[in-house]
Amino acid sequence: MTESKIGIALIGCGGIALANHIPGVTLTNYAKIVALCDANEAALQRASAQTGVTVISTHYKEVIARDDVHGVIIATPNFLHREIALYAISLGKHVMSEKPLGLNLDETVQMARAADAANIRHMTAFTYRFVPAMRYMAHLVGTGFIGTPYHFRAQRLQDWGTRNIGWRQVKALAGSGEIGDMLSHRIDFGHILLGDLSRVVSASKRWHDVRDGAPNDLEDWVALLGDFANGATGVWESSKQVTGFGEGGASRDIAEVNGSEASLIYELGTPNTVRIGRAGAAHGEVVPVPEAFLKHPASPRNVHEGNPVQTFRWDQDAEFVDAILNERACTPSFWDGVRAQTIIDAALDSNDERAWVPVAYPSPAPVRRD
Ligand SMILES: NC(=O)c1ccc[n+]([C@@H]2O[C@H](COP(=O)([O-])OP(=O)(O)OC[C@H]3O[C@@H](n4cnc5c(N)ncnc54)[C@H](O)[C@@H]3O)[C@@H](O)[C@H]2O)c1
Repeated sequence: MTESKIGIALIGCGGIALANHIPGVTLTNYAKIVALCDANEAALQRASAQTGVTVISTHYKEVIARDDVHGVIIATPNFLHREIALYAISLGKHVMSEKPLGLNLDETVQMARAADAANIRHMTAFTYRFVPAMRYMAHLVGTGFIGTPYHFRAQRLQDWGTRNIGWRQVKALAGSGEIGDMLSHRIDFGHILLGDLSRVVSASKRWHDVRDGAPNDLEDWVALLGDFANGATGVWESSKQVTGFGEGGASRDIAEVNGSEASLIYELGTPNTVRIGRAGAAHGEVVPVPEAFLKHPASPRNVHEGNPVQTFRWDQDAEFVDAILNERACTPSFWDGVRAQTIIDAALDSNDERAWVPVAYPSPAPVRRD
């Protein structure tokens, strides 16, 4: 490996690559970005200037095929994830792909099966699993702190008005609107906190057929109800049309679980605290996340430095690199992306059929390694 470091190629050098993956990989001690690709020359030059990486190309195959590239991070629009991942997998490269993993369930299953068959490390960039509050909540739920789980609830409410959101408003490029873009993470929260869903029902609405002069053929609002296999209920809502709520980290982004013994409330804006409501108490108590949960164990990050709403996002790259280094599976893997996409596809079917839809998660096919 180059200078005994894991070489990473970054494919797609737009918003999320600059904010999350470049600083995330740079922070790790064992990997470095060795090549960059973006179809847009200006984006490529900007990323090259930010990283000092001079191996650049507008064609992903040129950078992925390099001998000094061991891992690939895919941060392009959604419609390209499968194509790029399958190419990287065919060359035996490890892959982290942004969410949603593919345009639909068939694509995601194909990606996960190909990755398993090639025995490479594969990861879905479910960034918000790495929020300290979510790490702590998953621990508390897993150790029985909330008692019998009754409800899961998540809201992602933003004010994007009628601005043009590029590929995100084109079904052929994005696959879905709010449900894939925003709720994929929150469906993943439901899975890590309360496990499998057994059935879902969903409704969506598009308010604007045109955004700033460009056609929009995807939903601006979505609601999802679900039954978990353990008997708990789930409710999710996401919208771009919540006027006056702002966007990004400052807008409403909450998730909570309510059980027989306690409720746990997560807000992205305060990622290092959890609000805990105990049985019989009138108000929840804001509890600091214990030190052990403030970062991923493989992350070299100083948890007391920087903006906590931003810095946790770098831990996913530490997980990817550590999994490559230690030849272990990534968490979350492509199969977690498949699980979220199972719910997304079921929700889209439900919206079309105006009915509850049963959930059937695909299983990994057994892989023979002789
Ligand atoms: N995990 C998260 O929290 C999170 C947050 C935002 C976006 N995302 C995901 O990240 C991905 C990218 O989103 P973004 O907001 O950075 O979008 P973006 O539009 O800012 O960036 C995408 C980049 O991909 C480039 N690109 C397009 N076609 C390409 C090709 N053929 N080869 C190489 N590069 C190409 C574009 O030129 C652009 O620079 C999406 O899948 C999105 O859902 C994840």
